[in-house]
Amino acid sequence: MTYDSIEVQPLTPHIGATIGGINLARPLREKAHREIHDALMRHQVLFFHDQKITIDEHLALGRQFGDLHVHPGSPPPEGYPEILVVHADANSTKISGEQWHSDVSCDEQPPMGSILNLHTVPETGGDTIFASMYSAYDALSEPMKVFLSHLTATHDGEQVYRGRYADRGVNDTGKTYPKAVHPVVRTHPVTGRKAVYVNSYFTTRINELTQAESQTLLRYLSQHATQPAFQCRFKWQANSIAFWDNRCVQHIAMWDYYPQVRSGFRVTIKGERPV
Ligand code: SIN
Repeated sequence: MTYDSIEVQPLTPHIGATIGGINLARPLREKAHREIHDALMRHQVLFFHDQKITIDEHLALGRQFGDLHVHPGSPPPEGYPEILVVHADANSTKISGEQWHSDVSCDEQPPMGSILNLHTVPETGGDTIFASMYSAYDALSEPMKVFLSHLTATHDGEQVYRGRYADRGVNDTGKTYPKAVHPVVRTHPVTGRKAVYVNSYFTTRINELTQAESQTLLRYLSQHATQPAFQCRFKWQANSIAFWDNRCVQHIAMWDYYPQVRSGFRVTIKGERPV
């Protein structure tokens, strides 16, 4: 694939590309928008450096790729319901995304994509690791692919979000968090490729199996899907942006920089019901 308005440097054969030659603070011209979308479909997660953007520019960037999602648990900054705060410092007891996951997969229509901008980063550490769920699917044996094609899984927000934001003043007594059933293997609506769609954060049960079978298969799929061969690792700089496709990628945030500060904002783009 050739690109005219952006520079695309693949990070690994499976997943990830660094993108240059574009300023994301300005509205994207049609061709640049199309090429960024094409690159995302091909590489699944894109990385941009030196992108100093305001919250409003960040929201406008997200809206160029779809309607924006409002997080079911995380308290937004005043006046910005579609902004997710990502922040850790010496007072933090947990961080966002500390286990492998696809964002908010407990929603009936989980987010298509996420755009994370960090304005403050630790001296070293705080990397985000991404894994290709296409590669995970492709590496399965044919009998396993057939077996998984008959299965659905429950994704539950309760176990992830209940009490999670108490340190930011959220009392979630009486609140109900999203819970949804999705196919264990989903077909990407744009590329038509198949991807493993269970993760260790949200997926509680494979519905058609016994509890013991479900636990064993989920453990196997989590280990298989997140193996190093399917990964790329992003080293953040201040004002970097990562844009990932939740339909075919899982990610995990490294908290190896305590007590340093790592801080930024995420805009999340609405998606469709997985099929
Ligand atoms: C997230 O799960 O969106 C957070 C990722 C990160 O902080 O690197």
